Amino acid sequence: MGLILRFLFGILSFIVALIAIGIGYSKLDNVYRQKIFASILNKVSDPNDSAMMDLRCNQLLQHSNVKGHVLEIGTGTGINFPCLHNNTNIKSYTGIEPNVNMHQYFYNLIKQWNIPYEIRLLSNSATDMHEIESNSIDTIIMTFVLCSVPDPLPEKILLEAHRILKPDRNFIFFEHVVANSKTKPFTYRFQKIIEPLWKIINDGCQFKPITNYFDAMKNVYSQVQYEHSVMPVPVFFIKDAIKGKLVK
Ligand SMILES: C[S@@+](CC[C@H](N)C(=O)[O-])C[C@H]1O[C@@H](n2cnc3c(N)ncnc32)[C@H](O)[C@@H]1O
Ligand SMILES: *[C@@H]1O[C@H](CO)[C@@H](O)[C@H](O)[C@H]1NC(C)=O
Ligand SMILES: *[C@@H]1O[C@H](CO)[C@@H](O)[C@H](O)[C@H]1NC(C)=O
Repeated sequence: MGLILRFLFGILSFIVALIAIGIGYSKLDNVYRQKIFASILNKVSDPNDSAMMDLRCNQLLQHSNVKGHVLEIGTGTGINFPCLHNNTNIKSYTGIEPNVNMHQYFYNLIKQWNIPYEIRLLSNSATDMHEIESNSIDTIIMTFVLCSVPDPLPEKILLEAHRILKPDRNFIFFEHVVANSKTKPFTYRFQKIIEPLWKIINDGCQFKPITNYFDAMKNVYSQVQYEHSVMPVPVFFIKDAIKGKLVK
């Protein structure tokens, strides 16, 4: 009983803290908020987090999976680079990152390596990648991006990605998803309760049925594949994820 009470109390104080942070945060303007988010993301994106890096490098971005002209959607602080810097299959890398505050963290992280291929970072949204020619990209990668992209923009991103991808090539993704309301009702309810605050402090991120966006691509891409995956993080309400690929 004591344990349950402590647990409930812990959750309650967590929610109160979130509310306080959320209220303070929502008073800031967008420019400032983006700056803060970039610095928070830089702190939590830890290249020494071996469980997360194993997921990124050994379960998703193995060297044999990522090749040719590579484009990453929502590069963030460049946390996928420990998996990419010495990949000899890569010919060039283009990052799409609209929050320009992330760019300094990106360049700072990658300067430790002598990367043999060309790297460029663009600051537009992936909903419109007009700088990128149609049928020119061999591998697209995207990790933890769509939860912070408001509807109906995720669909636009997946269609833009289809335009720039070469036929037969892969778009590899790993994304947070909302918990299943039938098998994990408690987590689901908790996510819905904290969502308004979570959204404010976490760059607009919502708990969404992200698989719907990929399912809707079955008539556009030649293959749509994904499987459920569990995030190796000690936070129960952000454990649900999917891992998969789209093939043009
Ligand atoms: C939660 S972060 C994930 C960063 C990194 N990919 C990772 O795995 O940690 C989401 C990133 O997507 C970016 N983003 C949001 N909307 C975007 C859009 N429309 N096009 C491209 N990137 C976007 C954000 O600026 C942010 O850097
Ligand atoms: C990661 O570990 C290395 C070696 O232990 C250390 O030099 C580096 O500062 C650490 N990086 C971060 C971001 O903690
Ligand atoms: C690439 O670098 C990582 C460290 O960032 C290392 O663990 C890995 O073994 C290297 N792979 C190759 C093929 O050199």
